[in-house]
Amino acid sequence: MESYSGFAYVYDRLMQDVDYDGWTDYLEEIFRKYKMIPRNIADLACGTGNITNRLAQRHYNLIGVDLSEDMLQIAQEKASETGVEVIFLHQDIRELLLPTELDAILCICDGINYITHGEDLAGVFKGVWNHLKKEGLFIFDISSYYKLSRILGQNTFAENLEEISYIWENYFDESRKICDFDLTIFIKEKQLYRKHEETHSQRAYQADEIIHYLKGAGFEKVDVFDAFSFHKPKKNSERLCFVCQKQSESEHAD
Ligand SMILES: C[S@@+](CC[C@H](N)C(=O)[O-])C[C@H]1O[C@@H](n2cnc3c(N)ncnc32)[C@H](O)[C@@H]1O
Repeated sequence: MESYSGFAYVYDRLMQDVDYDGWTDYLEEIFRKYKMIPRNIADLACGTGNITNRLAQRHYNLIGVDLSEDMLQIAQEKASETGVEVIFLHQDIRELLLPTELDAILCICDGINYITHGEDLAGVFKGVWNHLKKEGLFIFDISSYYKLSRILGQNTFAENLEEISYIWENYFDESRKICDFDLTIFIKEKQLYRKHEETHSQRAYQADEIIHYLKGAGFEKVDVFDAFSFHKPKKNSERLCFVCQKQSESEHAD
């Protein structure tokens, strides 16, 4: 079954503990650290617009891109409710085609893990490079190899709430470096619950592999942080943040 179809309607409820305000603050800290005042930003794999719309509320010009029409519809509804104007595009980030050059391109909360083949990842990075202005920033995060293989893989998570319950069964295949997530969600409809099932697959990447593909696309200078900080990743870091600047060595941050 297609990922992020029916799941789109419960995504925000399942993500309610994620500190998206703090995440948006962190992105702005990155802009400051790299001495960049972006005006035009594209948010790839933007989902329901949790980062996109927050940045738009902070007066940046935003384009949100996602493969799931259902996620985009919710993102658009949320933008309209908060009175921000965002251009949402239904696109596969492996074939990126944006209407303008950007000061910054983002891909937040695992979007890159959904690109499960190396050659596709190379294509995503080349597309980003082509759409970035000189000195533009490409900022993205991944769930780490450690998290997908050791924390999520071969584990089952479940939550039983009044309006929604879910079972999340995960299988990590070391040879393919893929973590398959089987999600079963029960959503309350009047007195009954509707069962909804979908499978997501994420690829576990080591930082070096990602850097290899970034360099192939033209990104010479790549910094990798333990996400939400500016510290080097640790062995057990669960989320890594990559910051790449489309410029010569002399322009990079301190
Ligand atoms: C975990 S969600 C993250 C959403 C959002 N960035 C956030 O922080 O809440 C991952 C998103 O990636 C999107 N996605 C996966 N593969 C994609 C692709 N090839 N092109 C565009 N979007 C993709 C999914 O539709 C989903 O909305």
